[in-house]
Amino acid sequence: MQNKIRALIDRLDGLLVAHYYQKDEIVQIADLCGDSLELARKASESSKSLIVFCGVGFMGQSVKILAPQKRVIMPKIACCSMARMIDSEYYDESLALMEEYGISRNEIFPMTYINSSAEVKAKVGEMGGVVCTSANAGKIFEYAQKQGKKIFFLPDRCLGLNLADKYHIKSAVLGVSSKEEVLEASVICYNGFCSVHQLFTLKDIEFYREKFPDILIVTHPECTPEVVRNSDFVGSTSQIIAYVQSLSPNQRVAIGTEFNLVNRLRQPYNGVNYTYVLSATKPECPTMNETSLEDIYRVLQAYKIGEFCNEIKISQETAVFAKKALDKMMELSL
Ligand code: 13P
Ligand code: SF4
Repeated sequence: MQNKIRALIDRLDGLLVAHYYQKDEIVQIADLCGDSLELARKASESSKSLIVFCGVGFMGQSVKILAPQKRVIMPKIACCSMARMIDSEYYDESLALMEEYGISRNEIFPMTYINSSAEVKAKVGEMGGVVCTSANAGKIFEYAQKQGKKIFFLPDRCLGLNLADKYHIKSAVLGVSSKEEVLEASVICYNGFCSVHQLFTLKDIEFYREKFPDILIVTHPECTPEVVRNSDFVGSTSQIIAYVQSLSPNQRVAIGTEFNLVNRLRQPYNGVNYTYVLSATKPECPTMNETSLEDIYRVLQAYKIGEFCNEIKISQETAVFAKKALDKMMELSL
């Protein structure tokens, strides 16, 4: 199946793109593999006009928004569960709640994690806000702070709270914190989260530290603030890869991020495995794992006969403002 897909992709002159969380058999045959920032940039700048994107919905959408002239096909339009936690209506309701508390729209600067729909990004872009990924969140957050307004961070409360912690800024979670706490906060987070990264706990860290006193704990910023505060290294997917690969091969590490990535990060050294998953439960992202080789083959076969199956389409109205917020991120993360 892998050979058949490669032959078809080459014949159709397409670019096969895969996020690092995809299954091994997909990563092995991809032309381009990366984290969400790398994929958005490289796929949208590629010379190919057909992009076959294996990942979750918002990733394919980001490429289409940045490069509307390309045809973006997703073998499975799987939707990241965190991105599903907010839509345009919930966005408007959040602003209405803040207004009820006495915070006017003009006092709010919205910053959305790239794990959100095109419609939500458009809402953010319309208000002059910006997108970020976990790889550039610090840089974008510094820009957001300079706007002199309260930052409305969405949808991931963990990334928002972790950024506020890093810069020693008061934060609150909308709908969870009290009105007074929201009024006092400079960063107001939407109450979304990643169910996969919530699996890692302080107890897991304590377990590994007790078992192996020299172990390093490495986590993604979608983990809870408690876990992040107790980690030795926190970074985006590609930052985690670079960090772990820079360590000596017999340095023990316990990693708190998606299973497929952790599982292929390091091979055993002298027959000993020094890499651990920071959770007793296998941290698989269900939506990232939805895409199969058969799905890729099916959309390519359809494409060959002129049927554009699972093509990403975004209305002009949404694309204009979503692009504004995404372009700002690209400009700031150069
Ligand atoms: P990256 O930006 O690190 O690729 O993360 C995307 C994601 O969905 C992590 O759960
Ligand atoms: Fe979404 Fe979490 Fe899966 Fe990443 S790991 S795609 S944030 S559900």
